[in-house]
Amino acid sequence: MASSESSSPSVNPDGRVLSGMRPTGALHLGHYHGALKNWARLQHAHTCFFFVADWHALTTHYESPEVVAANSNDMVIDWLAAGVDPDKATLFVQSRVLEHAELFLLLGMGTPLAWLERVPTYKDQIENLKDKDLLTYGFLGYPLLQAADILIYQARWVPVGADQIPHIEMSREIARRFNALYGKDPETEAKARLAAAKLPAATREQLQQLRRAADQDGLIEKRDEARALVAASPLSRAEKDALRAQIDGGRRTILREPEALLTPESKLPGLDGRKMSKSYGNAIAIREERAVVEHKVKRMPTDPARVRRTDPGNPERCPVWQFHLAYTDTDTHDWVQRGCTTAAIGCLECKQPVIDAILREQQPMLERAQPYLDQPSLVRDILDAGCDKARITARETMRGVREAMGLR
Ligand code: TRP
Ligand code: SF4
Repeated sequence: MASSESSSPSVNPDGRVLSGMRPTGALHLGHYHGALKNWARLQHAHTCFFFVADWHALTTHYESPEVVAANSNDMVIDWLAAGVDPDKATLFVQSRVLEHAELFLLLGMGTPLAWLERVPTYKDQIENLKDKDLLTYGFLGYPLLQAADILIYQARWVPVGADQIPHIEMSREIARRFNALYGKDPETEAKARLAAAKLPAATREQLQQLRRAADQDGLIEKRDEARALVAASPLSRAEKDALRAQIDGGRRTILREPEALLTPESKLPGLDGRKMSKSYGNAIAIREERAVVEHKVKRMPTDPARVRRTDPGNPERCPVWQFHLAYTDTDTHDWVQRGCTTAAIGCLECKQPVIDAILREQQPMLERAQPYLDQPSLVRDILDAGCDKARITARETMRGVREAMGLR
C-alpha cells in the first residue's frame, strides 16, 4: 500500500462497496461530478470494488463489440484521472472474473420472468433505443447480471444514481429468495413439515403464503401474522415450536442483501442545459484538450433574449449560469447576476471564469492520467492485480452458493 491514508482506522471491511460502469464511450464531467468524485471519496473509508461492466455494455452493443473493447481501458484511465486510487480500491473487469457468469446462470434458474419484465428501465430502453433490437435474452437479463455482480462480492453498499435503484431493489429480492430457497436448516424444515401436515389444508396454505411473503418479499410484518396463525392453531406445544422455529428463520445468509448508496444528482447539466450525455453532443470529456474546452464553452447557447451585447438577460434562462453555480464562487455569482441583467458584461466575458474553473479542475486529472498514457502496461498491471483480487472474493461466495445448491 503506497499511501498513508490506506491504513485509516475508519476502513470497515464489513461494509464492502461495489459499483460498475459500462464502457460505451469517453467519460465526461457529468460522470466525474455524478459518480467518480464519490468513488474517490468512498475508497478512503471502505473496501471498494469498482469494475468495468463490459458484459453489460454488450447487452446493448452486441453488434459493435469493438466499441466496448476500445473504451474499457480508456475508462479505467478516466477513473484513475479522477482520483480513484488502485492502492485503495480494487479495479477489475467483469468479463475476466468468470464467476459472475456462473452466479448469473444459477440465479437465473429461480428468477421469475415477471421480475425482469417489470424493471422500469427494461421497457423504457427498448422504447428509447429503437435503432437497436433489444428484444434479446441478454438484455432482459441485464438486472440479473447486475445482481450477480453485486451479490458475488457480498457488497453492503452500491453507490449508484437514482435510475439504478430498481436494479438494486431487485438484487435484494434475489438475495432474499436465494437464501429462502437454499439457506434452509434441514432439521428445522423436517420437524416443521410434520407439524404443518396436521394443520387444516387452508391454514397450511395460508401459513405458507405468509412465510413466503416474509422470506422472499421481505414483508417482515407477515412474520407476526404467521406466528399468530400458529398460536391460534390446535397443535401441540412441540408442534407449534417447530413451526415457530421455521418462521423465525433457521435461514443461513448465503448472499447478503445490498443497499443502494444514492449518489446525489450532479448539479452540472450539459452544455445546452439538458442532462450531460455523449449522445446529445453536449458533453465535456474528463480529459478534454484545453483548447476544446474553451471552444465548447464559448459556443454554449445563452439567454436567447441577449441578441445584441446591449440587450439585458436573465441568468435563469441560461445554461452558463448553471455552470457558474457548479464552478464559481458567490462573488462571481453576484457579478454575473448584476452584469447579465444590466448588460454590463458580455456573454463571452461571463463565460471566462467558467472556462478557467473547468481547466483548473481538469489540470490534476490530466496530470494523473499522463503516466498511464505514456505506459499502457501500468493499466494492464492494475487490472491484472484487481481481477486476481476480485476473483478470490468471488470464488469464496461461489463455494457457498454451490454447496447450498448441492453442486459440489
Ligand atoms: N447498470 C449500471 C449502470 O448502467 C452498471 C452496473 C453493472 C452496475 N453492474 C453493476 C452498477 C453493479 C453497480 C453495481 O450504471
Ligand atoms: Fe448567460 Fe452570462 Fe450571457 Fe447572462 S451574461 S446570458 S448568464 S452567458
